[in-house]
Amino acid sequence: MLKLVDVSKRFGALSVLQNLDLTVAAGNVLGVIGPNGAGKTTLFNIIAGAQVPSAGQVHLDDRDITHVKVWDRCRLGIGRTYQVPKPFTHMSVFENVMVAAVHGGRMGIRAAKEQAQHVIELTGLIHRLRTPAGHLSLLDLKRLELAKALAQKPRLLLLDEIAGGLTESECDTLLEIVKTARDQGATIVWIEHVLHALRRIATRLAVLHGGTIISSGAPDEVLADSRVKEVYLGV
Ligand SMILES: Nc1ncnc2c1ncn2[C@@H]1O[C@H](COP(=O)(O)OP(=O)(O)OP(=O)(O)O)[C@@H](O)[C@H]1O
Ligand SMILES: [Mg+2]
Repeated sequence: MLKLVDVSKRFGALSVLQNLDLTVAAGNVLGVIGPNGAGKTTLFNIIAGAQVPSAGQVHLDDRDITHVKVWDRCRLGIGRTYQVPKPFTHMSVFENVMVAAVHGGRMGIRAAKEQAQHVIELTGLIHRLRTPAGHLSLLDLKRLELAKALAQKPRLLLLDEIAGGLTESECDTLLEIVKTARDQGATIVWIEHVLHALRRIATRLAVLHGGTIISSGAPDEVLADSRVKEVYLGV
């Protein structure tokens, strides 16, 4: 479903991604791990269209979308959360999610309201429905990121560190939400440092280090890889 071919990204003299190839099959859940600053969020920016690669291509369903604008990729079915939440701070939780459903999911007002209500309940934000997003705690802001991404019913869902700081039962709830999205047909790429969460859902893991993927495959095999232990797990 998603394919990155020979992708590189530079910011001036800083080379963040180098000749990266990545394929994600429809219906899979790919977990992405790697040390801080490895380029994980940059990878999402390139998939979602917030940034254009310095070289290489991004394909969605065999279509080259490398130069498709971020809002058009959203309408092609790519939904994402931002690691650093990006709500409209003066608007309520409900209004923020409505924007995602109407403009990202292209729903009519009635369908969007139903969908917004549904994902706000699902993500545990119902008691904050009318709260301006600027007044939310960081945890609730992360829930709002997830609610906005789900509101558009994405075919490809990109999750950037949404499990940090959750209690065990909150993490269980989050996993159920992600599993539901998967069961409804979404393909998922999930960047996360909370490994026990990833292990419970990922069909594959990819480890990003030094701007390239140093290991990928079945989660247990990847985590047992000596290179991964060295650079990421610090063993
Ligand atoms: N817009 C930008 N301009 C310049 N440098 C950038 C930009 N975005 C990211 N970088 C740099 O690129 C590198 C990779 O950043 P990125 O945010 O992709 O890492 P990450 O793997 O998501 O890290 P973390 O685990 O801390 O979230 C870092 O050195 C960062 O400072
Ligand atoms: Mg990041």
